Amino acid sequence: MSLCPHLCSGPKKRIQTQVAMGVLCSTILLFVYSNWQMDEAHRIPAVQGHLRTSSPEPPEGPVPKPRASPAVPVTPPLPLVLNVTVSEHFRKFFPLNGAYWSRLLHYTLRQHDQLNGTTAPEKWSECREANRELLKTNMHDFDAYPDMHKDFLRGLHCQGPPLLIDQPQKCTSDSDGTFLLLAIKSAPSNFEQRQAVRETWGREAVYQGGLRVHTLFLLGSTSDEHPHLQPLLMFEALHYRDVLQWDFHESLFNLTLKMHTFIKWSCSNCPAASFVFSGDDDVFVNTPAMVDYLRALTPAAAAEVYVGEIISVARPMRELNNKYYVPLSFYENVYPPYAGGGGFLMSGALMGRLSQMSALVPLYPIDDVYVGMCMQALGISPKMHRGFQTFDVAPYEREYVCRHKQLLLIHRRTPRNIKLLWKGINSPLLTC
Ligand SMILES: *[C@@H]1O[C@H](CO)[C@@H](O)[C@H](O)[C@H]1NC(C)=O
Ligand SMILES: *[C@@H]1O[C@H](CO)[C@@H](O)[C@H](O)[C@H]1NC(C)=O
Repeated sequence: MSLCPHLCSGPKKRIQTQVAMGVLCSTILLFVYSNWQMDEAHRIPAVQGHLRTSSPEPPEGPVPKPRASPAVPVTPPLPLVLNVTVSEHFRKFFPLNGAYWSRLLHYTLRQHDQLNGTTAPEKWSECREANRELLKTNMHDFDAYPDMHKDFLRGLHCQGPPLLIDQPQKCTSDSDGTFLLLAIKSAPSNFEQRQAVRETWGREAVYQGGLRVHTLFLLGSTSDEHPHLQPLLMFEALHYRDVLQWDFHESLFNLTLKMHTFIKWSCSNCPAASFVFSGDDDVFVNTPAMVDYLRALTPAAAAEVYVGEIISVARPMRELNNKYYVPLSFYENVYPPYAGGGGFLMSGALMGRLSQMSALVPLYPIDDVYVGMCMQALGISPKMHRGFQTFDVAPYEREYVCRHKQLLLIHRRTPRNIKLLWKGINSPLLTC
């Protein structure tokens, strides 16, 4: 989509702020308008639940007559045709059990096996309401869940949040393409972290051999308590052109939605990126070392990168007060091996299949575990790399620049430390 050619590229480099603001406003208006149009075009009835614990109803058959609101046409659930194969290993790892996530998974697997497709997620604006009845029917103890979990479950099928700030030309404005796309999870108010990353490891640059690194910060919406943030963000996005923002509440359990949505976005906007990094805005990344590592991979290895610090045997937390608590009636299994969410690498070539798989595997409240699930379903095993330290290095090494020079990623560092370390590893005076 090229809504803003003079804003995002072109010969005129310096556009006056007012003009740019004007263009931004019209872009947003256009966006709102086109989303509204789509909403109108694909409207489906709100009561159309798509979970049944038995096998799905045959797709053909009498269409029930609309009762309450004849203005809304009743259509059968839209099958979403998927072109992915679910690995046997994944099927064995997740046998059907009584937990809701497992029942959901097997419901979509059955659909997938029978129809080579699955039901498209409900329309963003309607799905929370539609999901209410579904939860009441399928979860006997829903009322006993903590509020955060209730909220997550209500939005489980809501997977297409509208974009508030887009960067459609991120990967297409340079003719030499994107070698590494840094997709950094950030929260609207983390201005300082983003600035530190931009000035250091996230600086867009061309590395040796013409390998280009592009950077994007992934954000949810600002809360109503901070109405002044959104205009600042708009300005930041206009100035740096590295902010992607969607209209969903920024929260821990919405990080999976952020991941899911970003993967979909990258398939349409950065399909040729060789590698994608997903990570937090409070990590230190040795970008030159990361580029060197990726450049040295054989073509076969480069096609199946899922690399980071691998957590190979983990199970859900069952203590109610734990940040990552997961109720047993929602999920019974252990976790598949996964790369720690502080930062990991994926092949760009996997993003298409990953996007399809994440239409099939029900969302899980913990984003890095969820990526592990989808990768396992694709038959991709995570690979451990000792250069990823998502639990940090030993305390006595934390200020030791040479240690950081050898590593690829360390979690976590303050904006000030990020700047100091970056200066250190790039200093010609450094002798390690
Ligand atoms: C789905 O794919 C399988 C294998 O390619 C094929 O045998 C089957 O007929 C397909 N089913 C439908 C409903 O298209
Ligand atoms: C995720 O975002 C949606 C849309 O803003 C919001 O309604 C929901 O409460 C959020 N979910 C969680 C678990 O925070």
